[in-house]
Formats: sequence, C-alpha cells, structure tokens
Amino acid sequence: MASKGNPQGLDLAREKMRQAGVDEVAIDTFAHYYRLLEHGETGMITEDSIEPLDMESLDDVEVPEDVAADAIRATAVIKLNGGLGTSMGMDRAKSLLCVRRGLSFLDIIARQVLHLRKQYDAPLPLMFMNSFRTSADTMAALARYEDLPVEGLPLEFLQNKEPKLLAADLMPAAYPKAPDLEWCPPGHGDIYTALRGTGLLTQLLEAGYRYVFVSNSDNLGAVPDARVAGWFAQSGAPFAIEAVRRTPSDRKGGHFARRKADGRIVLRESAQTLDVDKEALSDLDRHRYASTNNLWFDIRAMVEALDARGGILGLPLIRNVKHLDPADSSTPEVIQIETAMGAAIEVFEGARTIEVGRDRFVPVKTTDDLLVLRSDVYDIGKDFVLDQAGDGVPFVSLDGDFYKLVGDFDKRFPEGAPSLREAESFTVDGDWTFGPKVRVVGDVSLEASSAQRVEGGTVLGEQDADDAPTRET
Ligand code: UTP
Repeated sequence: MASKGNPQGLDLAREKMRQAGVDEVAIDTFAHYYRLLEHGETGMITEDSIEPLDMESLDDVEVPEDVAADAIRATAVIKLNGGLGTSMGMDRAKSLLCVRRGLSFLDIIARQVLHLRKQYDAPLPLMFMNSFRTSADTMAALARYEDLPVEGLPLEFLQNKEPKLLAADLMPAAYPKAPDLEWCPPGHGDIYTALRGTGLLTQLLEAGYRYVFVSNSDNLGAVPDARVAGWFAQSGAPFAIEAVRRTPSDRKGGHFARRKADGRIVLRESAQTLDVDKEALSDLDRHRYASTNNLWFDIRAMVEALDARGGILGLPLIRNVKHLDPADSSTPEVIQIETAMGAAIEVFEGARTIEVGRDRFVPVKTTDDLLVLRSDVYDIGKDFVLDQAGDGVPFVSLDGDFYKLVGDFDKRFPEGAPSLREAESFTVDGDWTFGPKVRVVGDVSLEASSAQRVEGGTVLGEQDADDAPTRET
C-alpha cells in the first residue's frame, strides 16, 4: 500500500537524524527505504517466482576436528540485542530476564562463550548489537564478566536510530512528553549499516578474523558451535543461514525458497506473501525450511558487498505499524521502517543454508516460550549449552489475558516454573497461580472463570486436573 508522503517528510526526518548525531550512511539508508515506502513498495514474492529449496543437513556433513577448531579461532560472535521485547510487554532487552538460578540470557551467553574460548583456545570475541534503549542495562549486566572483552574490540556497538513516521503523512512524529518514543531501531537488518558505520568490519579483518556468527540474544540454542563454523569455512560460501524443518506451528511463518529468475536463495515472510499464495506458504511439504536467524558471513565478502552498493545492501522493506507510544493506543499510528538481517541472503551469489537440529533454535518470543525455558525441559550443562532432558518440547499455551505481559506472568509463577519435562502439552485458560514444585505430566488443560491456585507439590495430569488440590484465591 502506498503511503501518502509529505514532500517535507524526508527532509525533516533527515535533519532530525543529523541533529541527533546519526551517521551519514545510516541517514542515506533510511532515505532509501523512505522512498520505497512512499512508492508503495510491498516486497511481495509470488509463488510462481520461486521454487522450493532443498538443503543438506549438518548431521550428514563431515567436518574434521582441526577444520572446526581453526574456523572457530577465526570467528567473532555478535548477538542481536537491540529489540525491546514489546510482544511480552517489555521496554528493555529480553536478554535481561532471568532464565534460571539467577542467570539471565546475558549470563548464559557470556558463559557459553567463555567456556568455548577455553575448550578451543580461541579468542572468540563476543559483541552485542544494542540499541539506544538496551545499551546501558546490558552493559551494566555484563560488567561482572571482566574477562569477556577482547583487547582492541568493543563489547557492544550501537545500532542506528530513526524517526517514527506518522502513518497519515509520513512526517516524523513529535512527542515532547517522552522524546525517546519519537525514535525506533530500524530492525536487525540495520546490523550491516551499523557494522560499516562503526568501522568494526575493517577492525575485525585487521585483527585477523575471517568469519562472523550472528544470532538473536533471545535464542540460547545459538551457540557459536565449532562444527557449524567448520562447515561454513569448508563451504567457502560468503554467507549462510542455519535452517530448521518447519513444523505445524511454523505454518504461518516465513520460509526459504530459490528465486527462479537468478537462482538466488530468498527468505519469504508471510507479510511478503499474496493472499492467493497463502496456501502454498503454509504447505510444509513444499516449503520445508524456516530460518533460525543464526547467520554466518565471511567478513571480506560482506565488506565487498557493502562497498559495491555504497553501503546500502538494499534489503526488502518491512513496514511495521505501531502506536507512537506502544503502551497508549490513543497516540497516533506510526510507521517504523525496518529490515531483517536474514533477507541479506539474496544479496550473495553462492550463499548457503544448512539444516540444523531444533536444539539450535530455542527462541523466546512469548511467555509460553519463557515458561518452557524456565522449567526443567532443558538441563543447562557445565558448558552452559541447553540440553533437552525429555523426548520432546511440550506445547505450552497460556491465557493471553493473564500471562502475556512478563510482569503478569511472573506474578502467577512466583516460585518458579512447574516441571514440564514429562508434559506433552500444557494449556492454561483463566487466572491460575502456581505454588512451588508443581509437576505437569502428559496433556494438561486448566480452565477457570475465577482466580485459582495450584498448591505446591501438585502433580497435574496423573489425575483429572479438576480433582487436583487447587483452591480459589
Ligand atoms: P524480535 O523482533 O524477535 O525480538 O528480534 P524483540 O524486538 O526483542 O521483541 P518484540 O518483537 O519487540 O517483541 C529478534 C532479535 O533481534 C534483536 C532482538 O533483540 C532479538 O534478539 N533486534 C530486533 C535488534 O537487535 N534490533 C532491532 O531493531 C530489532
């Protein structure tokens, strides 16, 4: 859909960015996407322009140990940490949340990396891409890891910020009451602009690194694994993304495909799919692989690609509509111009994908995911890698009215998550609060029209949940 631009909109937005100290490449990048937005660019990918993509599996690949070790010694790790966890009602980085035993996502990430450094005698620098909203908290939480910074490299770099645009006329939004809310991070596709703008790519090359592994800080399965690093080095590819087989719950989400016109691999998101193609999108036998957003790139290839395009990779535009103050729906609708990191796969000739196990993809997008992570479904070993304890990961669905926001969720599990390793599914409708050491076995579904409490020590599922020792609160 074309958005009616105001001739002054782009000029004012640019000026606002300049005054806020945003660098010129980031301003040019923003201007590029602003024009696409004005012209009604939709980024649609039709079914007849693509074909299904097949790929090899990491399980079937042979990676000699010395190749793996050499590759991990030439790798730098970046965690995307600029998002605000708004889907869970947060306005801070999700990675600050506690996972278990007082350890946050950040603690676990730091310890995974420190452990791998010892194991492989690798420098393995770790850097966080923060946004102006996540930087201070994140750096304060990491301060206890004195050994984490690698000499000559920063522990964080900041992604850019851009003005939110009024949906009505694409003018930069003003909100004197809380000026911070006039700005947003431009999605994780901004990583390429930010890496170039900060000079980090050159710095990494000069320090002798060849590969970068990037993943979401909310995915604790995304360990910088030496075998995957070895596979990537061995492949000689400029760019690669780890993929997982799509399951029924991924039906509505994006998938990989091959573009017929030039044979390039592309990622198609549901927002880029026409209604007539929605059936094909959800066909799990046709489009079998989804992205983990665990991504590898060859630093030299990235520098060349950026240089060749004046610093703008030219990724598909994501038009994200929100309220100016996300917590106040009476504030005007705004458009946030975003791009996604993985979409860069189509820029690189010879880019690759590889199927990895679900253990490398444990994203926390909702409090349902958070409950699984806080439960005993995964053990956390000495290497701080998640190790699935039972046969599968249970399906969890908590009532959105009482558990969607992390504050509400915490109140209802004050003593920690129940044991879920023997659970198949756990569905909670209504307002239930859980005592300590509750165990869920098999398929359990709770329903209530008034507030209820599940007493500590209860085993749910061995008997009808209605007979379980619960009481109204
Ligand atoms: P998501 O969009 O899934 O998570 O980003 P989010 O932004 O944290 O949460 P919501 O959508 O507001 O609820 C996936 C990863 O990308 C990072 C996030 O921090 C997360 O690790 N991210 C996202 C950035 O680094 N920058 C962005 O501009 C957006």
